Amino acid sequence: MKTNLRGRDFITLMDYSKEEIETILAVAFSFKMQNAIGQPHEVLKGKSLGMLFAQPSTRTRISFETGMTELGGHAQYYTEENMQRKNKETWEDTGLVVSRYLHGLMVRLYDLEKYGMARDIMNQIARSASIPVINGLDDKEHPCQCMGDIMTIQEKLGENWKRGKIVMSWAYADRVKSPGVPQAMLIACSLLGADLTLAYPEGYELDEEYMAFAEKNYADNGAKLSITNDIYEAAADADVIYAKSWGSCSMPKERDREYRAQFREDWRISDKHFDLAKKKSCYMHPLPASRGEEVTDALIDGPHSIVYDQAENRLHAQKAVLALLLN
Ligand code: CP
Repeated sequence: MKTNLRGRDFITLMDYSKEEIETILAVAFSFKMQNAIGQPHEVLKGKSLGMLFAQPSTRTRISFETGMTELGGHAQYYTEENMQRKNKETWEDTGLVVSRYLHGLMVRLYDLEKYGMARDIMNQIARSASIPVINGLDDKEHPCQCMGDIMTIQEKLGENWKRGKIVMSWAYADRVKSPGVPQAMLIACSLLGADLTLAYPEGYELDEEYMAFAEKNYADNGAKLSITNDIYEAAADADVIYAKSWGSCSMPKERDREYRAQFREDWRISDKHFDLAKKKSCYMHPLPASRGEEVTDALIDGPHSIVYDQAENRLHAQKAVLALLLN
């Protein structure tokens, strides 16, 4: 187990090793247990986390803020509008200055002009900041979400979870969303050696850099990465169907909106997909779900759904990241 992650950024899981991800997960499970028995664990007493949200959030904001409180520290919420970013203060100056006050900075930034621009800015902030920068979702990856998701899969599938049929699937939505979740899942599963089935209609291939990184890991560790354009084939015998919408890396947004309409019926995840999956299979979604588009109400509110357990695990997983990086 590699435990010294102090001072590191948490922008992409590609910067972390299998052992380091296992450390984060182990600490997350430990915090979850400590909460369960009411054991205080104020390991970040007197420390402050800045949270800069250029996009809205329910889960990320509340779980980070609560997480810092439970760790004995404090979290501060800002938007670009209420900082001097509104008057065009540079990202570099912002990173330099906040480093003089804070012990860590979480940033959420996506939906800019072009795919990759938000990641470039995130890296710019990280280069100028001398404190850990944590990715709270950019246009490429949602690593904090992913740590909670892997915890949840482990809890539901048990110790042999890596050999379960875990499907990470595209789903229909009117809104064009970030591919941050599937790309983080791909990297985490590839590093941990967990089998993964990717399902998406043609045109929704993931970022080539992410695919190449994952394929190399799969070639090295012998676990299985499968890809299909058929959602029914993916659903057959699945243990987990984690289905959410994402935008195409290769199409402009307007074209993507027109193109995706043809997938509305087959890729709205429902009991017809879960009838093909294993009896005790799980439905996952990072939330907020586009109900009636990505998923039917009956499925997300039904017995297969584990979305609220998944949301809870954001808290435990992020506390682990904070405690390891900011200590
Ligand atoms: N899943 C997720 O990141 O939720 P929020 O957008 O509410 O933070």
